[in-house]
Amino acid sequence: MKETPLGVRIFDKIADKYEFTAKFLSFGIMPYWLSRLVEGITPKKEGIVLDLACGTGILFPKLLERFDRVVGLDYSLPMLKVAKKKKLLKTSLVRGDALRLPFKGDSFNTVVVSLGLRHFPDREQSLREIHRVLKVGGELHILEVGIPENPLLGKLFLTFLKKVVLPLGRLRAKEDVYEHLFGSIVDFPHGGKMIELLTSVGFSKASYNPVMGGIVYIYRARK
Ligand SMILES: C[S@@+](CC[C@H](N)C(=O)[O-])C[C@H]1O[C@@H](n2cnc3c(N)ncnc32)[C@H](O)[C@@H]1O
Repeated sequence: MKETPLGVRIFDKIADKYEFTAKFLSFGIMPYWLSRLVEGITPKKEGIVLDLACGTGILFPKLLERFDRVVGLDYSLPMLKVAKKKKLLKTSLVRGDALRLPFKGDSFNTVVVSLGLRHFPDREQSLREIHRVLKVGGELHILEVGIPENPLLGKLFLTFLKKVVLPLGRLRAKEDVYEHLFGSIVDFPHGGKMIELLTSVGFSKASYNPVMGGIVYIYRARK
């Protein structure tokens, strides 16, 4: 693999503390977001789900309630090591790049990306790859941080991120991740723009739901 991208290096450094940090920075709300994401996934007991950018495998137990098997892929070896320590049955871990998935076409019924997409260096390329590895009729489910659509709420949320959450994150990560974390939220094509992107790479029935006013969004689409 080439030089490790910044969106991976951050997680390499905080792998052991990731789950605590994520819950801390979301003020404890993250498990609720994950439940909302998984609730809307059609259960396929005989199916295999790809958890793309699975990190420490925080989503695996919830996914195993709906699928027979989980394949978790992540670029960060330290994050995968934390996932491996959990010794969960019916899971496989793969180190790989979301921009070049090491799977044949039409491999999965379902792909889930939780809080990963905004860290990929080329979102469109990763969506093309997801489309390639999904079976026809297969589903993509994405959870990502966004900016509330209401202009006043949006402004308040951005100020809150800038002044409170990201300085806290910077303290914990002990490196200047401020630009990436903040920039990736601001630049992310949330809401309708994401639907356009999903449709342009070939997905159909793309829809989105703002959660908690649009602090995070859940996107669902079909191949
Ligand atoms: C915020 S964590 C999300 C982890 C997990 N999905 C969750 O919901 O907690 C983002 C993850 O994206 C991974 N990542 C970033 N760029 C990647 C890439 N190009 N290919 C695969 N994984 C990547 C990072 O290593 C990290 O584990």
